[in-house]
Amino acid sequence: EIDFFFPQEQTLAVIKPDAMEGHKEEILGEISKGGFTISHLKETVLTREMAEEFYREHREKPFFSQLVDFMCRGPCLMLVLTKENAVEEWRAMMGPTDPEKARETAPQSLRARFAKDVLENTVHGSSDQQHAAEKIHFIFGDISADSDVLNEADVVS
Ligand code: TYD
Repeated sequence: EIDFFFPQEQTLAVIKPDAMEGHKEEILGEISKGGFTISHLKETVLTREMAEEFYREHREKPFFSQLVDFMCRGPCLMLVLTKENAVEEWRAMMGPTDPEKARETAPQSLRARFAKDVLENTVHGSSDQQHAAEKIHFIFGDISADSDVLNEADVVS
C-alpha cells in the first residue's frame, strides 16, 4: 500500500451555514474528488458559546459578533479530512477569504463558486497543523486512537 510512505496530515473542514442548504452535496463531492479521506463528520448547530470559542482568535476583530451570529444561524457540517499535505490542499480548494478576490485569483475554488461575501464564505479550513489539532479536539474530542476511515455508523445525514 503506497500510502504508507507518505505522511498523512489531518485538517478540520467546516461547511458553513450559507452552504448547507444548496451546496453541501457538491462540496462533499469536491472533497472526495480532491482525494481527501473523511475520517469523522458531524452535522451540528453551534451554540453561541461554541462559535465564540471556535473563533476565539478573532474575538477582538470588528466582525466578531457578526461572525458568531452567522455561524450559529443554522447547521454546519464539521469534517476531519486526511491527506498528504491536507491543511494546505484544503485551503487551496477553499480559495481566499473574500470571494471577490477568489473569483479573480482562484475561480475554481469553492469560495469563488459559492460564497456570497467575506462573511458568508461557505467553508472553513484550519490555517496550520497546530490549529487543526486544536479545533479537531474541540469539535470531536480525542480521536487519536480512531481509524482514518469513516465508520458508516457515524454518518448522520
Ligand atoms: P480569517 O481567519 O481571516 O479567514 P479564513 O476563514 O480564510 O481563514 O477569518 C475567519 C472568518 O472571519 C472568515 O472566514 C469570515 C470572517 N471574516 C469577516 O467576516 N470579515 C473579514 O473582514 C474577515 C477577514 C473575516
